[in-house]
Amino acid sequence: MKEQVSVLIGEEELTNRIKELADQINRDYEGKKLHLVCILKGSVFFTCELAKYIKVPLVMDFMGVSSYGDGLKSSGYITIEQDLTIDIKGREVLVIEDIVDSGRTLSYLMHMLKKREPASLEVCTLLDKPSCRETDVQISYCGFDIEDHFIVGFGLDYAQRYRNLPYIGVLNLKED
Ligand code: IMP
Ligand code: MG
Repeated sequence: MKEQVSVLIGEEELTNRIKELADQINRDYEGKKLHLVCILKGSVFFTCELAKYIKVPLVMDFMGVSSYGDGLKSSGYITIEQDLTIDIKGREVLVIEDIVDSGRTLSYLMHMLKKREPASLEVCTLLDKPSCRETDVQISYCGFDIEDHFIVGFGLDYAQRYRNLPYIGVLNLKED
């Protein structure tokens, strides 16, 4: 198989939209302290870029979650590979996701995090594929709604590769 990546969202468009999301978050959390939960590994670029423009005091923590095998479709099994290091009880928690596809990962995560009694629990995702949704999940902040493409770059991977691309790309697989 030959792998080909075409640009879907370029660097400038990404940065501009992330700044807009940060402005919205700054307004909504004014006077509060924010607790960002970055879902590893895909959300790491987005979380760091977003955090640069957030002006309310914030804490960052990381949770390692795996829902895909090495293929293009979710395995359906969600495993927590690394838990948070800071207790979220009573905190204003904002979960940062790279992409919401079926919604199963997020739905599982939200259910689990809610039990830890945060003061509030919201979701911010860079990308959303609404046509692929299988479980209802509430998203407070979304960067871009996209079609059902397989996305790589800016943190997102195919078999652990392409995360380092500075843009959002569509992966096409072609026979040799
Ligand atoms: P869901 O549980 O089906 O919503 O899948 C969510 C997770 O699967 C995301 O956090 C990503 O890690 C991964 N994922 C979903 N769609 C894509 C994609 O197009 N490219 C890369 N990873 C994806
Ligand atoms: Mg992810």
